[in-house]
Amino acid sequence: MPLSTSPPPQQCRWQNFNTTAELEQAATQAILQTALQAISLRGTFHIVLAGGTTPRRVYELLRKADADWAAWHVYFGDERCLPADHVERNSSMAANAWLNHVAIPLTHIHNIPAEQGAQMAASAYVQTLASIELFDLVLLGLGEDGHTASLFPGYELGNTATDPTVIAVENAPKYPPQRVSLSAHRLSAARKVMFMVSGDTKQQAVKDWRNGIAIPAAAISPKNGIDVYLETALLV
Ligand code: 6PG
Repeated sequence: MPLSTSPPPQQCRWQNFNTTAELEQAATQAILQTALQAISLRGTFHIVLAGGTTPRRVYELLRKADADWAAWHVYFGDERCLPADHVERNSSMAANAWLNHVAIPLTHIHNIPAEQGAQMAASAYVQTLASIELFDLVLLGLGEDGHTASLFPGYELGNTATDPTVIAVENAPKYPPQRVSLSAHRLSAARKVMFMVSGDTKQQAVKDWRNGIAIPAAAISPKNGIDVYLETALLV
């Protein structure tokens, strides 16, 4: 598969937190605030969720929040090709921690149908996203090799408007090997993008990122820049 051309330069706002709990509280408040603003301006809030373990606590905090859930529309930045209710699916993590417990209409929760296999799921999700020009908020995590969503180093990132907006990933270096990911260009089509980065194995990835090395996370370049919520311990 050909690799993408370079993405436009990324503008990063680094927000450092001394503890994971502080980061999670601040991220939760920022999400709720962004939702309030979007709903008051446009009547709806379109959010893309991150997978992995870092956002779980934030999702649990959102579950306890008072929000206008009926106006929320939920999408996923990536998914693992596993059976629909598999506990290691990103959709299952978000459902168990949060979505099953609040009044977001089921028709507003847009899981990636990754149980159908990467190719079919990617094609289906292109249709799901077709009418959304800009997401209101995209949440992302960072892997220790610099990946974000399921965009891995050395793999297709989808940096340009002509690349597929949803990528079928085969042979991913992180389990499971079959995945589906929004492209870097599609993830950048957002009013706000927020990374949440914690865990003690990501120092090198953060260092590379801050030093301008082209890790996949650096390919996310929305017009308004990105906010990186980071644990101070990761700054070495
Ligand atoms: C996935 C992801 C992935 C994740 C990072 C960070 O499905 O695995 O979406 O990009 O966000 O690997 O994962 P942790 O939060 O578990 O460190």
